[in-house]
Amino acid sequence: MDYNNLIVAVENRIAIITINRPEKLNALNHETFSELSEVITNLKNDKNVYVIILTGVGGKAFVAGADIVELHKNNAAQGKEFSEFGQAVFNQIENVGKPVIAAVNGFALGGGCELALACHIRLASENAKFGQPEVNLGIIPGYGGTQRLTKLVGTGKAFEFILTGNLYSAEEAMKIGLVNSVFPPEELLEKAKEMANTIASKGQYAVRASIEAILKSREINTYDGLSYESNLFGLCCDTDDFKEGTKAFLEKRKPNFDNS
Ligand code: COA
Repeated sequence: MDYNNLIVAVENRIAIITINRPEKLNALNHETFSELSEVITNLKNDKNVYVIILTGVGGKAFVAGADIVELHKNNAAQGKEFSEFGQAVFNQIENVGKPVIAAVNGFALGGGCELALACHIRLASENAKFGQPEVNLGIIPGYGGTQRLTKLVGTGKAFEFILTGNLYSAEEAMKIGLVNSVFPPEELLEKAKEMANTIASKGQYAVRASIEAILKSREINTYDGLSYESNLFGLCCDTDDFKEGTKAFLEKRKPNFDNS
């Protein structure tokens, strides 16, 4: 499938989606959002894909934000729709049911930072820069930044990010837990693939149940969350993966998960 603003490659159970608008630093316009939505739907249903990596084309930007040319035209009602549309696509990414790793290879600003936040794991290159500079444009983050950033790094840092609009290095982002690990630019994609391969080698039912339980923890209180965890734990115990994983341990060999 060809896209105007994305490059999609699937290899060895790993899908790599590359945002491809280099002349606009991979800013997200309406068409790019629509394409992302379509590709995420396809990958969700693709049984051969276990893990998804999201990155940006070129060495300068992951995504430099929402497309300001399109954003500029909004009135109040259109602005709300603009925000809801982007949020829906990012929610789709977060709930695709497979791990999504952001390989942040440059500017991750505004909608770019929010796109990374909608992914489950964030790896960054040493030259990556994070920020929510919407206040410079007279708006607030509209694609989940006020919610996901706050839940990930806490209110204090979220206030600082969003109220100052400052940019932060990958190292600074890692210190506050926004980024999991930082790598030299030339190693980033390989490291993301390495992590994706590690996850792809596990029992995929358990991988998906883990994502579901962790996401649920943001919505419900601890005791309801524990009950949710127990239900999923029970379901895992009914799978062939569980039988194979525990049997392999007892037989002192590597498990051979049949994830077909
Ligand atoms: N929307 C639309 N176009 C964008 C964009 C965005 N979010 N970010 C960058 N671009 C475009 C620029 O307009 C420029 O296009 P042009 O060559 O047709 O003029 C091109 O991408 C290159 O960007 P430029 O600003 O010249 O690069 P730079 O190296 O000087 O600065 C940034 C890089 C990322 C600091 C700067 O582009 C920037 O601040 N972008 C906006 C970030 C932002 O506010 N994002 C939140 C949006 S809600």
